[in-house]
Amino acid sequence: MLYDVIVVGSGISGLYAALYAKRAGLHVALICKSNPLRSNSAVASGGINAVLKTTADDTCDHHIQDTLEGADKLARPSAVSAMVKGAEEIIDELIAMGVAFDCRDNGEVAQRPFGGTSAKRTCYIADKTGSALTQTLFTQCRKEGVEIFPNYVMLGIATFNEKLSGITILRRKDSHVIAFACKSLVLAGGGFAGIYRGHSTNSQESSGDMLAIALRAKMRLANMEFVQFHPTTLLNSGALISEAARGEGAYIVDENGERFTDELQTRDKLSRDIVLHQLAGHTVYLDFRHLGEELINKKLPSARKHALNGAGIDILTELLPITPSAHYTMGGIWSRNDTSTDIDNLFVCGECAYSGVHGANRLGGNSLLEAAYFGRVAGIEAARAAKKGEFHPIDYALVDKESRYVEMILEGESRFNINTMRRNLGNNLYKNAGVFRNHDSLANALEYIHYLMKMSSGLCCVNKERSDNVELISIIEFRNSLTVAEAMVMSALAREESRGVHYRDDFPEKDEKNYQVDTIIRRLAGTFLRISFEGHLSSDWWHRIRQFFHTR
Ligand code: FUM
Repeated sequence: MLYDVIVVGSGISGLYAALYAKRAGLHVALICKSNPLRSNSAVASGGINAVLKTTADDTCDHHIQDTLEGADKLARPSAVSAMVKGAEEIIDELIAMGVAFDCRDNGEVAQRPFGGTSAKRTCYIADKTGSALTQTLFTQCRKEGVEIFPNYVMLGIATFNEKLSGITILRRKDSHVIAFACKSLVLAGGGFAGIYRGHSTNSQESSGDMLAIALRAKMRLANMEFVQFHPTTLLNSGALISEAARGEGAYIVDENGERFTDELQTRDKLSRDIVLHQLAGHTVYLDFRHLGEELINKKLPSARKHALNGAGIDILTELLPITPSAHYTMGGIWSRNDTSTDIDNLFVCGECAYSGVHGANRLGGNSLLEAAYFGRVAGIEAARAAKKGEFHPIDYALVDKESRYVEMILEGESRFNINTMRRNLGNNLYKNAGVFRNHDSLANALEYIHYLMKMSSGLCCVNKERSDNVELISIIEFRNSLTVAEAMVMSALAREESRGVHYRDDFPEKDEKNYQVDTIIRRLAGTFLRISFEGHLSSDWWHRIRQFFHTR
């Protein structure tokens, strides 16, 4: 198959990219590994930030300032400014496509407060914003002729003489490895918070595939240590209870009914307050009871449904036990403001990208904005590059290599249980690379990841069925998760300070002199990873990390 532009990932950023590449008059394919409507974008329920003409007491400068402060001095101001200034146009465009944002009585778009913001800036559709946007953009893509390939799992980037030539894909219906050729490629396949299995708001499919593929292609990943924990998720499952709840006035209390924290501070600080309160022996709850049935049913229907289905609790009358869970990854594939990367004609957007706007901590409501804004930029830039570009041959040795990899997993003898290993990885990361971390806990996590990497060579399918083999996909995803987990923990070890969501209790202060820089990780020959910081290489760190590195 030949396409001018291929987009991988069907969340808001991927849909936007595909739409804009298509609007440039090109032949565009959208690839997604399962159901296109079940991306992580749909989980971001609370809203999308924008300063509108009608927004009271707010300006783009305030939005820029809040975002930079939330990011704890690591964001790229030019990227933040471009995104914030493009926000109103995005909202107008979404409305024109049919998104029915909730409105005030006078018909203007309603906005709610979110954590870390100085004004009511978050536009919303009840507490279902992400899924409503996804649905509208998906319909629009189909209407405008984007070719959509559900159940196609990307395996690798194909290059010829170091020029992008296409991608390799596992086709789920028959487990064959095939190649699609393209002139430009957009990676928009999501982040990696799902690797904290059992302690994550993300779908089970959030395994960091894009980042693992980028690392194998020797691209740079940036700021992998910054993993955001959402403060309010169901205690036993990690299911998200949207920040919309606190925006609409729900309290965080303990078993004595005490409010012990500021509900509208940024997620990093709130998560730390909650964990410290739990460590002091308390149980932590969301309290909706004072909000009343009418408001809850109108503005927080999903919170009520999730609490009932996930915990058997009716929030109208009962307290809902909550805890922080991994929700969003600020780090990703390094990119410039125009979404271009280390490989010509390869662009990235959405959560898999390090776009420079979130720094060390993202504000709620900024992810949907980032996805839409940079998705659009990626679509425009990919189309521009494709128009100037040409097709390069696919190196079939790569297809052959990927086929052998898949056959080995399908046909080999299974020695280990994938579900146990995934859960163990999630538990270990939550404990050792969680809201609080330090050198010893991170070293423990790294050692465990290396142990699992060795074991994973014995992970093969029990089910040998070639059609829609879920086990096969899970094993491929798990191996990607391990690659990404290693990069994340090594980055966390290297940053010997506390900043944003990265809180090291052995280095509790921010170190502006040494660490107001991005952590960059890339693969050298073989599987060897190298850490550096933007602007200078830390050879000292390189040697210290080697102490933890085991030959696999
Ligand atoms: O809490 C939420 O609704 C999540 C929103 C976000 O991650 O931006």
